[in-house]
Amino acid sequence: MNEKTDILGRDEIVRLVDTFYGKVRSDETLGFIFDEVAAIDWDAHLPKMYAFWRTVLFRDGGFRGDPIGKHARLVPLTTMGREQFDRWLELFRETVDELFSGENAGHIKRCAEDMANVIHSKINAIPDDRLDPARLTPEKRARYAAYRDGVGR
Ligand code: HEM
Repeated sequence: MNEKTDILGRDEIVRLVDTFYGKVRSDETLGFIFDEVAAIDWDAHLPKMYAFWRTVLFRDGGFRGDPIGKHARLVPLTTMGREQFDRWLELFRETVDELFSGENAGHIKRCAEDMANVIHSKINAIPDDRLDPARLTPEKRARYAAYRDGVGR
C-alpha cells in the first residue's frame, strides 16, 4: 500500500505546488485568470510559490512579495469574489489530501483558508469580523502572531 507521508520539506512543497497549479490551470473558474488575465510566467510563478509555502511552513523559503497588492491588481480585470476563492481552496485542500497526511498537511490547509479570507476581504474591501482581534480564539491569535513575526518580512 502506498502510505501517504506528511509535508516534510522542500520536495513535498514542490510536489504540492506543481500538482495544485496543474489543476488550477485546467480549471474553468480559475485557469484563465492565470493564463489570460494575468498572463503569468509559470517559470517564475512556481518557484515563487515554492518559496512562499516553505516560508509559511518551515520559515526557510525566503519569500518576499506583496500578495495583497498582486491580487488587488486583478480586481478591476476580473471577478475575485467568494466563488473564485472557494474554488481555489477546494482545489488546494483536494491536492493536499490526495498527496499527504499529517500535522503539516492539516496546518497548510488552515493557513491557506486564513490567507484566502484575508486576501479576499482586503482586495474587495469587505469588513470581515472574523478577523477582529477581539473575536480571535487564543489558538488563532498565536497563529497570526507567528505569521506577523515570521512571514513576509
Ligand atoms: C481566486 C483565487 C486566486 C487567484 C485567481 C490568484 C491568482 C494569482 C495570480 C494571477 C498571481 C500572480 C500575480 C502577479 O504576479 O502579478 C498570484 C500570485 C500569488 N498568489 Fe494568488 N490567487 C488566488 C488565491 C491565492 C491564495 C488564497 C493565496 C494564499 C494562500 C495566494 C497566494 C499567492 C502568492 C503568495 C502570490 C505571489 C505574490 C507576489 O508575487 O508577491 N493566492 N495569484
